[in-house]
Amino acid sequence: HTYDGISTPPMGWNTWNKYGCHINEQLIKDTADMIVNNGYRDAGYAYLNLDDCWQSYDRTPDGYIIVDSDAFPNGINHVADYVHGRGLKFGLYSSAGRQTCAGRMASSGFEIQDAETYANMGVDYLKYDNCNYEEGISAKVRYESMAKAINATGRRIFLSVCSWGTENTWEWASRYGHSFRTHDDIYNDWKSIVEILNVHATVVPRSGPGKWADPDMLEIGNGKLTLDESRTHFSIWAAMKAPLILGNNLNDMSRDLYDIVTNRNVIAVNQDPLGLPAKRLVHIPYDRDIWAGELVNQSMVLVLINFMDRRQTFTIDIKQYNYTGLDVTVVDLWKNETVDLKKNRYIEGQVIEPHGVAMFKLLNGTIIRQEEDIDRTTP
Ligand code: DGJ
Repeated sequence: HTYDGISTPPMGWNTWNKYGCHINEQLIKDTADMIVNNGYRDAGYAYLNLDDCWQSYDRTPDGYIIVDSDAFPNGINHVADYVHGRGLKFGLYSSAGRQTCAGRMASSGFEIQDAETYANMGVDYLKYDNCNYEEGISAKVRYESMAKAINATGRRIFLSVCSWGTENTWEWASRYGHSFRTHDDIYNDWKSIVEILNVHATVVPRSGPGKWADPDMLEIGNGKLTLDESRTHFSIWAAMKAPLILGNNLNDMSRDLYDIVTNRNVIAVNQDPLGLPAKRLVHIPYDRDIWAGELVNQSMVLVLINFMDRRQTFTIDIKQYNYTGLDVTVVDLWKNETVDLKKNRYIEGQVIEPHGVAMFKLLNGTIIRQEEDIDRTTP
């Protein structure tokens, strides 16, 4: 496994969803330790990313970004070394504008100098936001400048285009970055998950290796989503081939939540070598969704979501989702057990809790090919 974030979606942790601007050296070191000691790194979480507010509000007279020295008294290199020392990759954040969203110093107009700074800091992943840009300069131009500047450093840096769908981000961002945000920020509520799915249902055909559509970072563990909602959030992000970036306090994680975000079966779907995002095949608003995606070796993943506030029981005809064969095996990925397939095609009596999910892997059969609209070209 290369964990490069390009051939398969990036996995990691980011400061923003939980900590906002309240970040500092100790938090990063503690989190790096937890990622390693609690088994997150072994589960695939490879990046530790700082979001907004590692910078101060200024540059030096010769143009270098000044680090927020209250939060990071020993500088960013020190933190990056610590993170690398734990066998993790290190991510940093800036904006394609004069200031970041929180008003800190950002990179517009200083792309070459800043990209060199980031490379010298040991950055492996740059999240590049879209705040406070000069009117009249298109996003394409602003992101292209940073992409070129990063290339010029010679360091391999994952570029996360965080332009929230601006100028139909999905039409141009894969030329410059490795992932692209499609809408404004996720918020810690089930409603936000539902809204994002409605956007991604139309965007996933544009997503694939080296150009991942990014539905934003995970909210699991931030105290609002129920266990079922958390499982749904994780399942569908995994199946859509979204970046799996945790955004919570890893020190404050119940056993159940830990088991969700480290589930080997579900992560294997996300990291499947084909890199094909699942597509929404059934959508009944306020009722259910069914998504299906191709995996290596003619396997398939099926995700059922119950949007209702009450329990529902489903029977699925796998043939309806283009899977067939006389010897098909069905594995319930959350229960980690095989499921009886009736008459070679029916998964019967699947009880799904309110806002809950069921996720199946189908093996030993074949996918019935359909007219595909998936754009498989890599940038
Ligand atoms: C907007 C982005 O969408 C968020 O993910 C986060 O990076 C904030 N800006 C930081 O200010």
